[in-house]
Amino acid sequence: MEQPMIISPQLTGNVARNCHPLGCQANLQQQVNYLKQQPAIQGAKKVLILGASSGFGLASRLSLAFAGHADTIGLSFERGPSEKGLGTAGWYNNIYFRELAEQQGLIAKNFIGDAFSPAMRAEVIEYIKSQFGGQVDLVIYSLATGKRHTESGQWQSVLKTTDQALSGYSINLQTEQLEPQTVEVASSEELEATCKVMGGDEWQNWIDALRQAKVLAKGCTTIAYSYVGPERTAAIYRDGTIGRAKQHLHATALSLDKQLSQELQGHAYACVCKALVTKASVYIPVMSPYIALLYKVMKEQGLHEECLEQSYRLFSQHLYPQNGVVKLDEQQQLRIDDYELSSAVQQQIDQRYPLITSDNFKQITDFAGYKQAFLQLNGFAVEGVDYQQAINVAALQALQP
Ligand code: NAD
Ligand code: NA
Repeated sequence: MEQPMIISPQLTGNVARNCHPLGCQANLQQQVNYLKQQPAIQGAKKVLILGASSGFGLASRLSLAFAGHADTIGLSFERGPSEKGLGTAGWYNNIYFRELAEQQGLIAKNFIGDAFSPAMRAEVIEYIKSQFGGQVDLVIYSLATGKRHTESGQWQSVLKTTDQALSGYSINLQTEQLEPQTVEVASSEELEATCKVMGGDEWQNWIDALRQAKVLAKGCTTIAYSYVGPERTAAIYRDGTIGRAKQHLHATALSLDKQLSQELQGHAYACVCKALVTKASVYIPVMSPYIALLYKVMKEQGLHEECLEQSYRLFSQHLYPQNGVVKLDEQQQLRIDDYELSSAVQQQIDQRYPLITSDNFKQITDFAGYKQAFLQLNGFAVEGVDYQQAINVAALQALQP
């Protein structure tokens, strides 16, 4: 790799091929600045986050560390610099998160590896015992992935329907076009595989292992992120393969809750979030026009939140509210999708969604905001960053998680 260098975004369809490390750093710093201005979260102080390097997991880690003064362990699957390039945004998020947290006197331990591997679990448990004070009081399950490989099997998830084929449109971030897309019905094997990957099995495995190792504190809570969404996206989400996997996750929450409350006076909850642009969500077929329109409507109504605002609201108002009573719906779920599903928002979506065409989608939806959010995930389009500034590759290569 030649150095120094200047990096501009490379997209293939909806996949980012590179990231801007200094943009990732600036992005984290801005989020930390926001959190430091918020009222403190009175909650968990020792937290394990599975899927900590981006999206909801990273936002949760930031909120709990910088508004809640929590020590954190973050596990993620990310790549550092190699002959192929500088590595992933999540790699740099981990590093710069740790640096910022350590400046506050907080522990911020990063593990890079496969959350589905028992050896990885053993390593994390050993660390909790020997260097993290022996116990955690919150475990966050925020993995999003397409595959799971274990000794007992290998599964690949699919994003398909379960009932009938579906036609719709998806935003292509590279070409900035709305493209027709058809989603096929999953086979029963594909549906099962998706539940194996994105359902609750591994959440259960983690909690079992942590419990048996006695590293869960009395009163420990565990949460896993989920999505439900409105009727409009039901065919691809709620009733699709991913939605079935989420139902499995919701059932796991109820059984884990029973187990934890009996043994540790603890709790397990699924937390239903709003639809947001993340590395994972831009893959969901025929979902993006809805999300881009949702951005438009929620911004107009002053209700828009990114992962950070969602997670701060979750911890400060729903999981650790001032009155001490966890805010749950009748299904024992934390619901921070309440603004998205409000009738004021959904009525506007219902009025405008049918008007979207490939010619006008940039005007009707918040395409610009949608794309900007995606670029920012990878460290691009971040305010205040001088993208003409050369990158010191050797310095980046020397960084350790
Ligand atoms: P993301 O891609 O931003 O984050 C996924 C995380 O999982 C990353 O830290 C990644 O490194 C890690 N990961 C993936 N495979 C791994 C493995 N094998 N071992 C260790 N780490 C691994 O995704 P996200 O959108 O934040 O999704 C997190 C959760 O939030 C998912 O359950 C998702 O369904 C849920 N959710 C997302 C949305 C949305 O709109 N994005 C809405 C509601 C709920
Ligand atoms: Na995450």
